[in-house]
Amino acid sequence: MSRSFSRREFLTRGVAAAAAAAAIPALLGARAGTAMVVYKDPNCGCCTSWVTLMRAAGFDISVRDTADVQSVKQRYKVPQALASCHTALVGGYVIEGHVPADLINRLLKDKPKVLGLAVPGMPVGSPGMEGGTKQAYDVVTFDAGGKTTVYARR
Ligand code: CU
Ligand code: CU
Repeated sequence: MSRSFSRREFLTRGVAAAAAAAAIPALLGARAGTAMVVYKDPNCGCCTSWVTLMRAAGFDISVRDTADVQSVKQRYKVPQALASCHTALVGGYVIEGHVPADLINRLLKDKPKVLGLAVPGMPVGSPGMEGGTKQAYDVVTFDAGGKTTVYARR
């Protein structure tokens, strides 16, 4: 009679595998499994690239495709001057555009009293915008009154 794995053995192996998988994003600096919702145009390639990078950094992403990203930006009070392509929600903050993952993690850790972080426009060389000659760009916080402060320069 051949011996098959017991249910208990199977579950133990499954748990160990899940723990190992969860540890990988943690090594990259993100808290594994932090939920993030991303609103993006279904035809936007750079949005998809950014989502891939955020997943690799450990965020648990739900993508909401929409042809009307502008109304999403209005709903979440993204100042018009800061508009980019996609808009994401994480930990009570709004993330506009190609914001680097390490700065999102810093925001979630520091918890400043702002609405969110933005990389206005779509600078070449920002996460998801690889390929050309890198442009220097600012990552800014914004509040409900449209006030911005530089959070980091990249
Ligand atoms: Cu983009
Ligand atoms: Cu985008």
